[in-house]
Parts: sequence; C-alpha cells; structure tokens
Amino acid sequence: MPQLSLSWLGLGPVAASPWLLLLLVGASWLLAHVLAWTYTFYDIVHRLRCFPQPPKRNWFWGHLGLVTPTEQGMRVVTQLVANYPQGFVTRVGPVMPLVTLCHPDMVPTVLCASAAIAPKDMVFYRFLKPWLGDGLPLSGGDKWSRHRRMLTPAFHFNILKSYVRIFNDSVNIMHAKWKRLASEGSAHLDMFEHISLMTLDSLQKCVFSFDSNCQEKPSEYIAAILELSALVTKRHQQIILHMDFLYHLTTDGRRFRRACRLVHDFTDSVIQERRRTLPDQGLDDLLKAKAKVKTLDFIDVLLLAKDEDGKELSDEDIRAEADTFMFAGHDTTASGLAWVLYNLARHPEHQERCRQEVRELLRDREPKEIEWDDLAQLPFLTMCIKESLRLHPPVTMVSRCCTQDIVLPDGRVIPKGALNVKGKSILGRKRGPKHQGEVTSGLYSLLSGAQVRTAGI
Ligand code: HEM
Repeated sequence: MPQLSLSWLGLGPVAASPWLLLLLVGASWLLAHVLAWTYTFYDIVHRLRCFPQPPKRNWFWGHLGLVTPTEQGMRVVTQLVANYPQGFVTRVGPVMPLVTLCHPDMVPTVLCASAAIAPKDMVFYRFLKPWLGDGLPLSGGDKWSRHRRMLTPAFHFNILKSYVRIFNDSVNIMHAKWKRLASEGSAHLDMFEHISLMTLDSLQKCVFSFDSNCQEKPSEYIAAILELSALVTKRHQQIILHMDFLYHLTTDGRRFRRACRLVHDFTDSVIQERRRTLPDQGLDDLLKAKAKVKTLDFIDVLLLAKDEDGKELSDEDIRAEADTFMFAGHDTTASGLAWVLYNLARHPEHQERCRQEVRELLRDREPKEIEWDDLAQLPFLTMCIKESLRLHPPVTMVSRCCTQDIVLPDGRVIPKGALNVKGKSILGRKRGPKHQGEVTSGLYSLLSGAQVRTAGI
C-alpha cells in the first residue's frame, strides 16, 4: 500500500487510503471556504462602518426581531427612519448585515441599478417559490423580460375596463353583508378581514372567471391562499426554519405543502378545463372572439400570449403567473383600501367631500354604479386614495441583492457581498389599521451582505 508522509504534521508515514486522501482534500476545501467567507464577511462589516448602526438586541441575534410585522414593529421602523433619515445598517443573526436606505435621494441609486447589479433578493422571496414558481416577482433575466412583455396586454385598459363591473359586484356583496351584520347587532367589524375576502373574490373572478361565493361561505381555495400568505410571513421571523429541510418537518411546513397542493390543483384544473373546452376553431379564434366582447380573464390573456418568436407560455408558466396575481393582488389592495377607510374615518370633513363627489357623479344614474370612465371624474377621492397610499403604503419595503459595489450620491459605498454571504430581507406588509400604526413609507433593498431601505418621508 502506498505510504503518505505526514511528517510535516508530526504524524509520520500513514497508509494513504483513497478515503484518507479524500478526507484531506475535503477538509482543505472546507477550510479554504471558511477562511474566504470569514475574510469577506469582515471586509463587508468593515466597509459598512460608514453607516450608522442602531443598538443591537444582543451579540448573536443582532437586530433580528427588532422589526416585527406588528403595530409595534411599524413604530420601530418609524423611529429608525426618524433617527437615521439617510439610512442605517443592521445585522440579522450572527452573519447577515443589511443596509437600509431611507432617503429619497439615496433610493433611486439602487432601484434604478440594472437587474444584473441589483437583482431581487431571493432570501425572502424563495419561501414563495414552491407556491408561485417562476412568476414575475421570482424570475429574473431573460425569463422575466419575456414574461413581462407577454403579460403587458393584461394591463391594457380595454381588458381592465371590463373588470370594473366585477369590482362593483364584489363590493356590493360586501356592503350587503355589512348591512346584515350591523342589523344583527355586530358593533365591530374587522375591516381588513372583510376587504381581503372582497379583493380575493374580485381576483378569482378576474383571473379565473370563477365565482366561489367566498364572501358568503367558506372557500377551501381562498382559505388556502390566506393560510399560505400567513405562513410565509411567519416563517420569515423564524430564522432556524429558513432551512427547507427543517421547515418541511414542522407542522407549519406540512400545512404549507398541503395548501400549495390545493392552490395548484385549482389553477391546474381551470387551465386544463379551458384547454379542453376549446372548440374546433382553436384557441386563437376563440380568444379573439372573447376579446371582441371584452370578457377576457387573466387565464385567457395568458393562453393567448405569444412571444416575438410565436412561442406560447407553458401550463406551468401560466399557473405561476395566475397564482402570483392572486397573491400579489389581494393583500396589497385590501391593505390599501382598509387604510383609506381608516383615514377617511379620521377626517370626516374629507369623507363628506368624497361622498358628495360620488353622489354628484351618480345623481341621475340608474343603477348607481361607478364605471371605468368615471374614475377620472373623481379628483378629490383620487387625491385621498393617493395620500393614504403615501402615508400607509401596503408594501413598506422591497429588497435587492447587490452583485457589485454601489456608490451612493453622498459617496458612501454599499459593498458587493460575497456569494456566500447573504443578506436578509424583511418584507413588511402594512395590513390594516387594526394591525399597524401610522408610519412613513419605506422601501427595503437588500444587497448580498447589505440591505437598503428607502422611505418616502
Ligand atoms: C395598492 C396595491 C399594490 C401595491 C402597493 C403593490 C406594490 C408592489 C411593489 C412595491 C412591487 C415591487 C416589488 C419588488 O420590486 O420587489 C410589486 C410588484 C408586483 N405586483 Fe404589485 N402592488 C399592488 C397591487 C398589485 C395587483 C392588484 C397585482 C395583480 C393583480 C400586482 C401584481 C404584481 C406583480 C406581478 C409584481 C411583480 C412585477 C415584476 O417583478 O415584474 N400588484 N407590487
């Protein structure tokens, strides 16, 4: 057997079995990586010293848990932005430094950087992956650009116009329910809960042309979407469960997988049904005929979509985009609407002016329903909605990784992070007035090794 001289280690000759050699190579590889990682980490920490740092909660967890998705968490954000108006650095856990940019002068540098320099952060978004697949928020590069172009027609006003009727119907169902509950003596209603069901109802009709009557009776599909949204937010707070293999061993992990299956089965069945019921004239003719009478839902738009080479979206792509719209469209709009109602309740004089504006518009109309063209005739209401979104943005932060150094307007540099040093995103959703306090807006950008928050103050 060949002998391996390890005298330089003081070990004398050792039988050099292939296993021993493999072990040595493996250990050296590991050591080299740990050293490189440690060097990069300390380099990043050193370079981030130009940013102020709020007091840590403790040496191990750093600032983890400082900003929770609660009213108190939003107050902490407000205070942080007040204390560090330009931006600050925090550490999430032992090794994840984040730069948070708060000032409108700082933010564009990161947000306007190309997707190659500041791509989306996958630390948080990756929890959505099993549910949303490669939908727009989770895809990058060529796939993202191709899908983005193919989805543009979905936002054409001719298509959106037909949805106003759906919004009216869903809102009327909600109002009728409120009237009934009030007449039965309910003194308190959780607006966010009711409005969420209404936005989900609207989306399900606009995306799938499916009426689950979810505002009136429980719907398994809608319950699964609400559960998935809650589980993703919860997981974000549990750093140990960021590891997939651990998460899937937990009860929450199993609930997540079950809810994903249910949501996917629903979307798949709509896509299959739509393909099955295609008449002989083929997909194109059918969809074009539907488009003429403007009854296209989002699934139709996706089935119709073709790229420059005439290639269509696969069923998997269609599912990802449809599920993404259900996710991205319900919580944001429900939160925005709940805050509008809250702000109007706090300012009765503005509320009255909005009411007068709507009454005036609908004065001689029967049925008294808002139409697409009316939206431009409600300037004061529009201002109130915009001001409410400014004061209480439904998405308070977005995150980005950075693959290159980014120089801010004041000369400070957000260092490029090493590939194996990950920052951590905090996706803050300001849900409803019941859940969150007043706070200035914030956008969060994550850099690998550093994070940027931007706040419109
Ligand atoms: C008040 C309502 C809404 C707010 C405040 C809002 C906010 C945002 C923000 C901040 C982003 C960027 C996230 C990032 O860059 O990391 C985003 C992306 C996105 N939103 Fe919304 N959103 C709203 C409504 C909706 C609705 C109704 C839909 C669909 C029905 C939707 C679909 C999307 C999609 C697909 C993306 C990803 C776009 C891409 O990556 O190309 N959003 N939204």
